[in-house]
Amino acid sequence: MGDYRENIIPHSHAISMNERQKKNGHKAKVLWFTGLSGSGKSTLAGRFETYLHNKGYNTYILDGDNIRAGLNNDLDFSEESRKENIRRIAEVSKLFVDAGVIVLTAFISPFKEDREAAKKVIGEENFIEIHVDCPLEVCEQRDVKGLYKKARAGEIKHFTGIDSPFEEPDNPALRLNTEINSLDQCLEELIKNIEPQFRL
Ligand code: ADX
Repeated sequence: MGDYRENIIPHSHAISMNERQKKNGHKAKVLWFTGLSGSGKSTLAGRFETYLHNKGYNTYILDGDNIRAGLNNDLDFSEESRKENIRRIAEVSKLFVDAGVIVLTAFISPFKEDREAAKKVIGEENFIEIHVDCPLEVCEQRDVKGLYKKARAGEIKHFTGIDSPFEEPDNPALRLNTEINSLDQCLEELIKNIEPQFRL
């Protein structure tokens, strides 16, 4: 008796990513924003999506807190659950990219190994890693959601940057420092460095 997966035979459909990209007039990619909680991932992804959407690109945002409220509401913040969180997001992103959409993901995704695995699932040519770089002290000072305060008080366990690590990407396609640069400056960087990659 073999593995049940042996009996799954994927079907190759007539309409492929290529046809969809041609119809849309742009390439599909995954922009993988990674960084500490409060670094500005969601804000930047949102700003860039608005810019792209208004220019006629087909886009979609997958955002940590939103996905964790639904699809991934069975996952906590243990290393194992974070791995599964990222695995599912990578698989969902892969489907969106196949559908011809530019996906912007905003997850802490603190572990190198999990981001590498996501890159593998999505395909290196479609995966663009963007490190939203902001010192922990600054994120903690911002504390937009009040979670750092709770983590320091011991009310939240395994909080990234406090008692759970963040492994910085060694070689991201783009690094945006949101301590030094304004949102508008970061947006300019995204437009300059990333938008050209959507050209067919
Ligand atoms: S990830 O590590 O698995 O990639 P994800 O981006 O989905 O994390 O979710 C992070 C969000 O969950 C944070 O922005 C924060 O609002 C919330 N959160 C709740 N508990 C934690 C925790 N222990 N560590 C980090 N973020 C947490």
